[in-house]
Amino acid sequence: MKLWGGRFTKETNQLVHNFNASLSFDQKLFEEDIQGSIAHVTMLAKQGILSEQDEKAIIDGLNGICEDIKSGALAIDEEHEDIHSFVEAHLIQRIGDAGKRLHTGRSRNDQVALDMKLYTRKEILEMDKLLKDLLASLYRIMQENLDTIMPGFTHLQKAQPITLAHHMGAYFEMFKRDRSRLHDIYERMNYCPLGSGALAGTTYPLDREMTASLLDFYGPTQNSMDSVSDRDYLIELCSAMSVIMMHLSRFCEEIIIWNTNEYQFIEIDDSYSTGSSIMPQKKNPDIAELVRGKTGRVYGSLISLLTTMKGLSLAYNKDMQEDKELVFDAIDTTKGCIVLFHGMLDTLTFRKDNMRASAEGGFTNATDAADYLVSHGVAFRDAHGIIGQLVLYCIDKNISLSEMTLEEYKAISPVFEEDIYDAIRMETCVSRRNTIGAPGQEAMKQVLAVYKDYLEQN
Ligand code: ARG
Repeated sequence: MKLWGGRFTKETNQLVHNFNASLSFDQKLFEEDIQGSIAHVTMLAKQGILSEQDEKAIIDGLNGICEDIKSGALAIDEEHEDIHSFVEAHLIQRIGDAGKRLHTGRSRNDQVALDMKLYTRKEILEMDKLLKDLLASLYRIMQENLDTIMPGFTHLQKAQPITLAHHMGAYFEMFKRDRSRLHDIYERMNYCPLGSGALAGTTYPLDREMTASLLDFYGPTQNSMDSVSDRDYLIELCSAMSVIMMHLSRFCEEIIIWNTNEYQFIEIDDSYSTGSSIMPQKKNPDIAELVRGKTGRVYGSLISLLTTMKGLSLAYNKDMQEDKELVFDAIDTTKGCIVLFHGMLDTLTFRKDNMRASAEGGFTNATDAADYLVSHGVAFRDAHGIIGQLVLYCIDKNISLSEMTLEEYKAISPVFEEDIYDAIRMETCVSRRNTIGAPGQEAMKQVLAVYKDYLEQN
């Protein structure tokens, strides 16, 4: 059934119907559509635009449709154009003439704008919860690994010793910012477009404050043309999800590297790895690779939506229907990736001995050796040169700085004394770094206290 057959003399071409229809994907919005319609008729009745009898019949009918779709008793068939037409047609079929009054003072333009906002709002909260769960795991790993020494890298070259807690803390910060981005979007988008009509409001005395409050919005939107053509919040969400995926992807890249035979910093649990059909020895980090791979899809949604919107004159244009598949896919992908990533992270084993041995092996204490000289009166630039010579010497002899004898040290600079060995121990290098945000245990404990409060309050 069509909502708009009146002025047409011919049937729609079947290919046109298929091309135009959105029901195959916007059926995801059936609950939001019904929720919005119930608020609308409640307001219409209160304003005297609809009788209480019709209001009751419509609300009962809509609730029945909702239950039947959920239970499977009512199948969503493709004959209808979109979820709005589907619900309205079934309402009329069920309750007769009263159903024909549902759309009074409303257009599908404000209806779809509302449905998408209700859906997005719910999904933002769910995604935020998934990120919070991930943060709780990162917090646990941090607490357990304040003393777990590992190399920190720059250019993927060993740089300075850090701890696993410190490394995990970097991701804690990223996902914490991701949550705050979601929060910002929620705050900006949470205004109700219902009552904007097709583009110019309506002549009925609608109470837009009332519908906004019934649907838990902060208030009604202030411009009816903007209300039906604003998709900014979806673009912002795709952007925030792109950043979440970028963070997950970087983390995955590290997990893939740490899981290699060469590094062996971690062991991914069997339940989160996969094998090879030909090479019996293989245990592959497919989940991490897939999360990294799916990042491109989410970026794609952002660019697609930006491009779709860029040339649209005000107000509604059908181009905007393209928002749905992009946003639904990006949301499902991002949520799925957070969940799978979290499961993988929670079950992996850190091979702390290998991490420590790796930190020992790569001259990660060279900066500390230079700082030792500085503390004994040598200018930093000279100290840098001296330690450079030491490193060259060690590379030649295939030993580490801590394996050099004091005579060997003194041969290069007489400033070295016995206490150099303590100064370049991994533990010393880490524990002396206690500026805010640094890996030293004292500094990290303060950060953990901040994170604990954050997790309790947010
Ligand atoms: N399926 C449409 C969309 O997603 C609903 C709005 C239709 N409005 C219209 N004037 N054709 O955008």
